[in-house]
Amino acid sequence: TIPVIAQLDELRSTVAAWRADGQRIALVPTMGALHQGHLDLVRRAGELAERVVVSVFVNPTQFAPTEDFGRYPRDLERDYAALSGTAVSALYAPTAQDMYGPNFSTKISLEGPALGLESITRPHFFAGVALVVTKLFNRCAPDVALFGEKDYQQLKVISRMTKDLDLPVEIIGVPTTREADGLALSSRNVYLSEEERAVAPRLHMALQDLAQVVSRGDPIAAAVAQAREALAAAGFDVDYVEVRDAETLEAVEAHDRPLRVLAAAKLGTTRLIDNIAVPRA
Ligand code: PAJ
Repeated sequence: TIPVIAQLDELRSTVAAWRADGQRIALVPTMGALHQGHLDLVRRAGELAERVVVSVFVNPTQFAPTEDFGRYPRDLERDYAALSGTAVSALYAPTAQDMYGPNFSTKISLEGPALGLESITRPHFFAGVALVVTKLFNRCAPDVALFGEKDYQQLKVISRMTKDLDLPVEIIGVPTTREADGLALSSRNVYLSEEERAVAPRLHMALQDLAQVVSRGDPIAAAVAQAREALAAAGFDVDYVEVRDAETLEAVEAHDRPLRVLAAAKLGTTRLIDNIAVPRA
């Protein structure tokens, strides 16, 4: 049986005992509704550390009032079952009251990779992510923490923040886990109707086409416009399609360094995001 920990003092004493034994500790932060993408992070974590803590916490500060905080899928028993037979050593599931007490008054202000992309439609999102991730790092004190490339901007924001604030944690990015048809696994895919699910892989296809065109040196602006048109024609309501510096996420004019293509688009009410590397020319 996997210990399920809700209390901070129990988390601290559990981790302290492992550390006293000379064991390395990995943290995999999640919001639950675990799928194979999360489990691939856990597997990688088990290769990097003797002990793996998976946190499950639907973080209120990263949802806008208009977003799906209330209906976000929550099922700790299902998550517990999904983790059986994996490298997990403890499941940490704090309450919102414990994470954010009554007089909570602190925010983290972000620039650089946090600007643009997801921040256009979700201006408070990364401040909420940064806050909860910093708190989870301080609570768990892991040696390494793993994040999926699926949320590429999130990965870069957390890497930048960890360096900037001297947080003593190594950040590891893990490649995106996909369905056979290319759709990136996401807890929000359960919101898709059957028709929408059939269209959804076209997001990944459009990014593959865009990455190919950019990689062979075609002008970026025209290639992006073409990708937007393809997505709109397939029935997506496009938030953004962008080609960015793969490390800093700065806007780029030419293919003179490693690049990443990133997009967000809605199918009905479900918002999908995806990104891939531009192959080297
Ligand atoms: P959540 O969406 O539950 O994702 C938890 C972790 O799983 C993130 O690092 C995410 O990038 C990774 N992940 C999700 N789908 C993936 C896929 N198909 N392939 C690979 N990795 C995938 O991201 C969050 O939660 C939250 O913002 C969090 C970091 C926990 C802070 O609240």
